[in-house]
Amino acid sequence: MIDKIKELIAEADAFKAQSKEEVEAFRIKYLGSKGHLRAFYGELKNVANDQKREFGQIINELKTTAEAKVNTLKEALESEEEDKGIYGDLSRPSEPIALGARHPISIVKNEIIDIFSRIGFNVSEGPEIEDDWHNFTALNLPEYHPARDMQDTFFIQTDPDILLRTHTSSVQVRYMENNQPPIRTISPGRVYRNEAISARAHCFFHQVEGLYIDKDVSFADLKQTLQYFTTEMFGKSKIRLRPSYFPFTEPSAEVDVYWGLETETDYKITKGTGWLEIMGCGMVDPNVLENCGIDSKVYSGFAFGMGIDRIAMLLNQISDIRLLSENDVRFLEQFKSSL
Ligand code: PHE
Repeated sequence: MIDKIKELIAEADAFKAQSKEEVEAFRIKYLGSKGHLRAFYGELKNVANDQKREFGQIINELKTTAEAKVNTLKEALESEEEDKGIYGDLSRPSEPIALGARHPISIVKNEIIDIFSRIGFNVSEGPEIEDDWHNFTALNLPEYHPARDMQDTFFIQTDPDILLRTHTSSVQVRYMENNQPPIRTISPGRVYRNEAISARAHCFFHQVEGLYIDKDVSFADLKQTLQYFTTEMFGKSKIRLRPSYFPFTEPSAEVDVYWGLETETDYKITKGTGWLEIMGCGMVDPNVLENCGIDSKVYSGFAFGMGIDRIAMLLNQISDIRLLSENDVRFLEQFKSSL
């Protein structure tokens, strides 16, 4: 019998449980009213007197072993449960991390910066709240000049000298005021115009303007630079320059790229002509150079400017400009796989 009890002690000692139910079953088996311990206590009276002491001790050992086991198992299971309460199930797979996507405007802007930086242009930036000088007057647009009507402007009501810049040409003025040629810089940024919001126009949009000033810069240099750009950006090298007018450039031109007429979309976006207008450009007017402290007898240069939003819409077939500023995640998520 003593061997049997020793066996049970070893068994109790080695017992492991995963749940409270298992612990309870163990307790009943050893310590319950029909359990091992009760049975052995019952046997005690049949044991010879000289063995009673040893027998009693061994039963007590079984009792303390079983009780201790029940207590430690219960405690362990309870603290596990507490952990679950605070942290949840620590072994569960974690929540998926939602990766953001770059905005289509940023994707196109970065691409343009990349293309021009490969031919030595740096990036310059300036304030969105400008003064009249940098946005208009220095650019050959004095007060009451009719060309100011080309760009409907948001003025700050209390101070007509302060406005929201209508183009990033203002950054070029600042750059020329602070740097002498050779200058090769592009100025990306947000601009504002007081226009009715529709699918095709917004009261703010984004531009990249470029400026190149050095000795002997010619119109041929301008054309070559633009051709390099359209080839890199759109994979299209055929361009044409149509005479146009900007107060700050002379001569001025509108740049069309030959998009082709291969698909229905090509027909739609080029109105059946195959040609797509993408930017304005020209040779910087000598007056502008002088206004910015650059000697126009020594230096000449060209400038160009394009809308990023239009290009982003073109490349991604976005039909409504408002989508670009509504921050609808369903729209933005579509650009995850882009650059
Ligand atoms: N600043 C002009 C605009 O906003 C674009 C342009 C820039 C045209 C440089 C010619 C030269 O429309």
